[in-house]
Amino acid sequence: MARPRASQSPKAALPMPRPPRPLPPPLPVALLERPLDYLMAEHHRHRSYLAGLRYAATQAEIQRDQAVRLHAFLASELPLHWADEEQDLFPILRRLALPEDGLAEVLARLSEDHAMNEALVRAIDQGLSTILNADHDPVPLERRLCGMMLTYSTREGRHLAVENAVVLAIAGVRLRKAELHGLSAAMKARREAFHVADA
Ligand SMILES: [Fe+2]
Ligand SMILES: [Fe+2]
Repeated sequence: MARPRASQSPKAALPMPRPPRPLPPPLPVALLERPLDYLMAEHHRHRSYLAGLRYAATQAEIQRDQAVRLHAFLASELPLHWADEEQDLFPILRRLALPEDGLAEVLARLSEDHAMNEALVRAIDQGLSTILNADHDPVPLERRLCGMMLTYSTREGRHLAVENAVVLAIAGVRLRKAELHGLSAAMKARREAFHVADA
């Protein structure tokens, strides 16, 4: 008679998720002088936030202070980053990239990701916003919210890999001093306008 084996349990097959490292501090404003480095550094930060979302989703609960930081990221930092890419970097690259760069299709797919992720991020942020003032800590997370957090973190991880390996690599070759200066100015102005509106 076949005996049940502990190793067949689906739970036993899953590695225990490790708590993510603390979320990183904001980037220095001076780095905006080097806009491609700034975007790359933001991608690095985004990976920490994605790890935070993934960990909370796998635990189905979140510490309130972690929810506050993730909410700030989703509601403020991420829209600025998307605007940097959609309104400035991608249009410059569409103009300057050579046919042999093969960038047109890549940028089209990344723009589709941005559009698709916008609604998902809004829904996750809404879910997190409702627990910011909970009277207990940690706060349990609904299954549907956990599912959205996992979907987004997986999708966005792939998106970042393409942007780092393809888009920023080609931008480093094609953008000249004038475009880099224009991109830097636009990113600075966007953040100044955001903070004025936010004050
Ligand atoms: Fe990006
Ligand atoms: Fe992007």
